[in-house]
Amino acid sequence: MSKAVAIAHPNVALSKYWGKRPGAGNFPAVPSLSVTLTGLATRTRVVFDAALERDRVLLDGKAADAGTCVRVVELLDRVRKVARESRRAEVTSQNDFPTASGLASSASGFAALALAASSAVGLDWDRARVSDLARRGSASAARSVFGGFVELAAGAVDGSEEGVLAATPVAPADHLPLVVLVCVTADGPKAIGSTEGMRLTMARSPYAAAWLHEAPLLHERLRQALLARDFRGLGELAEASALAMHASAIAAGITYWVGATLDVLAAVRSLRAGGLAVFATIDAGPHVKVLVQPGDLSSVRAELERVGGIKRIIETRPGSDAQCETQVGRPE
Ligand code: PMV
Repeated sequence: MSKAVAIAHPNVALSKYWGKRPGAGNFPAVPSLSVTLTGLATRTRVVFDAALERDRVLLDGKAADAGTCVRVVELLDRVRKVARESRRAEVTSQNDFPTASGLASSASGFAALALAASSAVGLDWDRARVSDLARRGSASAARSVFGGFVELAAGAVDGSEEGVLAATPVAPADHLPLVVLVCVTADGPKAIGSTEGMRLTMARSPYAAAWLHEAPLLHERLRQALLARDFRGLGELAEASALAMHASAIAAGITYWVGATLDVLAAVRSLRAGGLAVFATIDAGPHVKVLVQPGDLSSVRAELERVGGIKRIIETRPGSDAQCETQVGRPE
């Protein structure tokens, strides 16, 4: 048997990826920039075993759904091809955060899987290669291979499936003091997965072209604000990116928000009207991630705790890159 265990953390996009390049390879149509979060982790074990007849995928103790299995097996097949490996694998993945928390479990999941699978078969890949592999399973996962603030460029317009695209670190976790308050507003999995949400937005939204034009501009300004350690600029642009992304999706009939999502947005705006630098971002789900500086944390938290629709608040900060915990070589 050959085995490896890897740990990766979810990330939240400050400038959003929404929309894929046409064709295969899972290349994003727009650049994105995220922060990898500490205190939350996915732990994934991959065991290649000659006794297995087929790949097995267990997520949080249960057999994974068919769609997830296909994506996991595709990633394992890529690794097997490069390593000339024929054994099937058992993948066991555990999140230490509630899967309904709206934190990107696919991002931390595919980052941990890419690192564990490539390590288990003895491929001594650099981080860029692991990130490229993770991106094929979930583009946001390319960013979770790295800690701190991380960027993923858009794919080349004329890219082929074999083209390489990895995320790159922009700034370390301690570059900017930041707390991300994950305000959980609903239980249960989201109704429309991100791949389907993006596909429908690009196919049906009258604002898809506007989003594809605007997203790279917002991204570049946000990147500059981050490098200048301009928290207010960063927050304003992050909120603008999230609202533009959701506006394009809503115009296609894809609504991830619930009533409480709007209540949190209203609370954030009212805190801002009172002079606090506090901003919101929302991924492909109903939960709101509130961006705040450590000095304002207690007053912002106290106010958010009064918003009726928030089920719980998870406090996170910029965190570290994915790590391989144990690795057993290839004895056969
Ligand atoms: O990588 P995916 O397919 O899980 O899509 C991620 C989409 C967003 O979370 C909404 C934005 C992002 O950049 O993470």
